[in-house]
Amino acid sequence: MAKRNIAVVMGGPSAEHEISLLTGQTVLQNLNPEKYTPIKVVITKNRLWQFEDKTRTAPEALTFLKEKHAIIFIALHGSYGEDGTLQGLCELYGVSYTGSSAVSSILSMDKVSSNELFAKEGLNVPEYLFYSQDQDVHKIVSEVDGAFTYPLVIKPARQGSSVGVRIVHSKEALKPAVEEAFRFDENIIAQEYIKGREVSCGVLKEGSSLTALPPTELIPVVSEFFDYRAKYEKGGTKEITPPDMDAAMLEKIQEIAVRCHAALGCGAYSRTDMMLQDETLYVIEINPLPGFADASIYPQQARAAGLSLEQLLDTIITNAEQK
Ligand SMILES: Nc1ncnc2c1ncn2[C@@H]1O[C@H](COP(=O)(O)OP(=O)(O)O)[C@@H](O)[C@H]1O
Ligand SMILES: [Mg+2]
Repeated sequence: MAKRNIAVVMGGPSAEHEISLLTGQTVLQNLNPEKYTPIKVVITKNRLWQFEDKTRTAPEALTFLKEKHAIIFIALHGSYGEDGTLQGLCELYGVSYTGSSAVSSILSMDKVSSNELFAKEGLNVPEYLFYSQDQDVHKIVSEVDGAFTYPLVIKPARQGSSVGVRIVHSKEALKPAVEEAFRFDENIIAQEYIKGREVSCGVLKEGSSLTALPPTELIPVVSEFFDYRAKYEKGGTKEITPPDMDAAMLEKIQEIAVRCHAALGCGAYSRTDMMLQDETLYVIEINPLPGFADASIYPQQARAAGLSLEQLLDTIITNAEQK
């Protein structure tokens, strides 16, 4: 069988540029060389597509890849790559790509629309209020202060890697947190703080069936919560797959992850973050393009399910071919 060209697209303009390079590297290293010819593409922070031999604009790159019958493996995270922009461009140019559709990516990346859809699905989400940058900061602060008890959570509506997320313990810390979150998105949410254990659960689509991977418990070691340092510093978080919980709870986590994936119409794979307070599971967010470096949570869960990275990539690419 002829080998298929796979353009592994990484980098991008988002705050997660560096993380994406790690994801891209892992994908390049684990593609089955007998089935695929990899093409490395680094998208610059200015959205130019750097191939090994030349740099192209997005339209030039997509036209070129279409001629090559390439599939784009989207190894980006955050804005441009995970928020539906790149997916929309691929759809426009008729180039196959991995992961979730443009519409599903837009809904998943935005914590306002995804929270709405989780709630509509009957799942528990922390109480939240939504604000946009054209509102008066003092008014936002006084409304949030009146609506929640401390600690509370402030986060950008569309970001990742905990960038701009703050747990706020006092009214004094509220305004700086609101201003910080607005640096990363024009929309932010204020949210009820859930005190409990954090878990994350991957879902993989095979054919038309959705399978949940073994969940992981995340215990931050270097920080108060699962922030950027805890996520990316070596030893920053203790990750336990599967967590020490009874089988019924693990099953419930998996069932919720599958329901979240389906509710948002996600594609080949996703990873849903949840918090367990007493016996109640709250959905925090869904990641339509979870980190994919060798040590990332999603590949760890796949390994625990007996799937190698090579097999995992194969399934994700097959999904793209079937779209
Ligand atoms: N409502 C909440 N209650 C308690 N902790 C939260 C809450 N929301 C977020 N967190 C903590 O902040 C981290 C990052 O928040 P999240 O919404 O997942 O944003 P990101 O998309 O940046 O990962 C979570 O993994 C969790 O540790
Ligand atoms: Mg998260």
